[in-house]
Amino acid sequence: MAGSAIGLGNIWRFPYIVGEYGGGAFILLYILSTLIVSLPIFISEVTLGRRSKRSAYGSMSALRPGMKGCRTIGFFSVVIPLVILSYYSVVGGWSLDYLGKSLAAEFVREEPSVVSALFGTFISNPWAPMLMQLLFLGATAAVVAFGVKSGIEKFSKYSIPVLFVLIVVMCIYSISLPGASEGVRYLLKPDFSQLTPRSFAYALGQSFFSLSLGAGTIVTYGSYMRSNDNLVVTSAGTAVSDLLFAMLAGMAIMPAVFAAGIEPGAGPGLIFQTIPYIFSSMAVDAPVLGAAVSIIFFIVIVVAALTSSISLMEVGMAYLNERFGMKRWKGCILLFVICGFIGALCSLSFGPLAGVHIFGKGIFDFFDWLASNFFMLLLALVTTLFVGFSLRKSEVRDEITNGGTVNNKVFPVVYFLLKWVAPISIIAIFITNFIL
Ligand code: TRP
Repeated sequence: MAGSAIGLGNIWRFPYIVGEYGGGAFILLYILSTLIVSLPIFISEVTLGRRSKRSAYGSMSALRPGMKGCRTIGFFSVVIPLVILSYYSVVGGWSLDYLGKSLAAEFVREEPSVVSALFGTFISNPWAPMLMQLLFLGATAAVVAFGVKSGIEKFSKYSIPVLFVLIVVMCIYSISLPGASEGVRYLLKPDFSQLTPRSFAYALGQSFFSLSLGAGTIVTYGSYMRSNDNLVVTSAGTAVSDLLFAMLAGMAIMPAVFAAGIEPGAGPGLIFQTIPYIFSSMAVDAPVLGAAVSIIFFIVIVVAALTSSISLMEVGMAYLNERFGMKRWKGCILLFVICGFIGALCSLSFGPLAGVHIFGKGIFDFFDWLASNFFMLLLALVTTLFVGFSLRKSEVRDEITNGGTVNNKVFPVVYFLLKWVAPISIIAIFITNFIL
């Protein structure tokens, strides 16, 4: 679950969303959303998965066979992760390309300012980013086709702690850059005037994205959990490490953004302009260190991204298998073609298709918005309502407390949050965003 949660959402998406929607004040909203709304939803999704022992597609209909709409909801919980995977693989491709650039020592050979400008040239080129996206998606499909073997699991078990250590090193370096204190202040001193009504929706959307909620992933993973695992401890542990990782990534990136003189609201390219800048300035004193750290950093980003993209594709794979009995390799080819096509459009939206706008957004931004600020919220809402109102309280208690053996004290709090606070917060976000 931590492998699914920790990924590009923390390293790539969190910093630029913070930069666009209100800095330190946004971070407070984000922490609050995670603890009060997202964590209870996480627990609901795990409950749903473990109780039904089915993937996201079949879980609700397995628990409430006669209930109308369960299949439709199940179907949506398969489509949403595939939409996310499509644009996620674009960023995965960027990371792969930057790994290549690190291996070629491009960042240490050039001036910091030249290095941060490379990104714009790279993504506006139609071919390179698209090929890298397909490569990343192909790697994902290959792993999913062979089954998620102990190799990748073991690798992520080691890579996540390494990533933690590296990000701390990057924080220290980034904070020590000249001009960085402005960035630290930006993160830690909340300025509430920077918040807009949109900030609330984006805070919740970001915390859902980062915890892989509202997209069938956690339900599917929950179904693999053992009956004696402690559901609350596991969920809270995942949420806290995910939060911590996001904060560290913010601390590694924002000070460097200010030191490099880049706009914090620069959008999805933010880390690709900033991180190489850090390596390039590191290389002025220590070229070998700069080159080595940049290689390790991008390897770990690619691996973190892969463990998340695998969890996204697995939801679709489980569906094709459960519903049509499709073989894994066939299913993976199909998913590769679908996501590859949508992903290619997303990739081209930074180059030749830059002029195409849907509801005022570029194609990439549109899919991201549609998934994380609309469909994920909707699916999470339906899930909490199902667990809160369609399942009996005794069933939920039985699952969360492992038949009354653990978590008896926290259960009432968790249940109240998931039954009332979570759905009401999501509805409030919908109203402010779409009606007012
Ligand atoms: N949470 C992952 C990240 O932070 C991405 C991810 C995996 C995801 N599965 C998901 C996002 C399901 C939304 C829904 O990078």
